[in-house]
Amino acid sequence: MMLGATVRAWWVAIVNAVASNLPDDPFSSRLRAYLYRLISMHSGTAPTIKGGCRVNGYRLRIGNRVFINRSCYFDLSAPVVLGDNVVVGHHTLFVTADHEVGTAQRRAGAVKAAPIVVEEGAWIGCQCVIMPGVTIGHGSVVAAGALVRENVPPNVMVAGVPARVKNTALDAGVSAEGRAAE
Ligand SMILES: CC(C)(COP(=O)(O)OP(=O)(O)OC[C@H]1O[C@@H](n2cnc3c(N)ncnc32)[C@H](O)[C@@H]1OP(=O)(O)O)[C@@H](O)C(=O)NCCC(=O)NCCS
Repeated sequence: MMLGATVRAWWVAIVNAVASNLPDDPFSSRLRAYLYRLISMHSGTAPTIKGGCRVNGYRLRIGNRVFINRSCYFDLSAPVVLGDNVVVGHHTLFVTADHEVGTAQRRAGAVKAAPIVVEEGAWIGCQCVIMPGVTIGHGSVVAAGALVRENVPPNVMVAGVPARVKNTALDAGVSAEGRAAE
């Protein structure tokens, strides 16, 4: 049992070490997606995952035409699901693990984890932190540097720490460009 966990951990570490250090040309990007699939990432067609990213576990599911920019981190203590056409800016963190607040002897108490869902079409800017249990609604925008700890409704823009809705007037329709991509 313990040996199995160690072998799995080494396998994830080796895939991360190779995949995250490949360059960002189209062939290497495809190879990187293939390597992540070897550690059970489920992905749709044409994923782009740039270098420097780290996937800490097995529970990443991404849809069609997802774009993940450089040096993002996926803590996969619980699943992270990115819908079709989701774009993620560089250095964004997906944090699924949390702790109960413990006693004064050790405030980081019992571990708990909750999944993150980013619905189709959403755009997350660079250097965001997405917290455990959050759902980001379809077509929404998370501005650069935001810390998202509550669900984001569809087709709004949120910004800040903690993230607050700043714009509720985003177009909810599908553009000609969006239809052409289907
Ligand atoms: C969100 C973004 C797209 C701008 O959207 P927008 O609808 O044009 O927003 P506006 O410029 O009209 O700003 C609306 C409000 O949000 C605030 N805001 C916008 N971006 C913000 C940010 N990153 N952090 C904090 N507040 C922000 C503005 O200050 C303004 O606030 P106010 O109404 O209180 O004055 C842009 O700011 C952004 O963050 N882009 C991401 C860039 C990035 O990460 N690039 C990496 C490549 S993926």
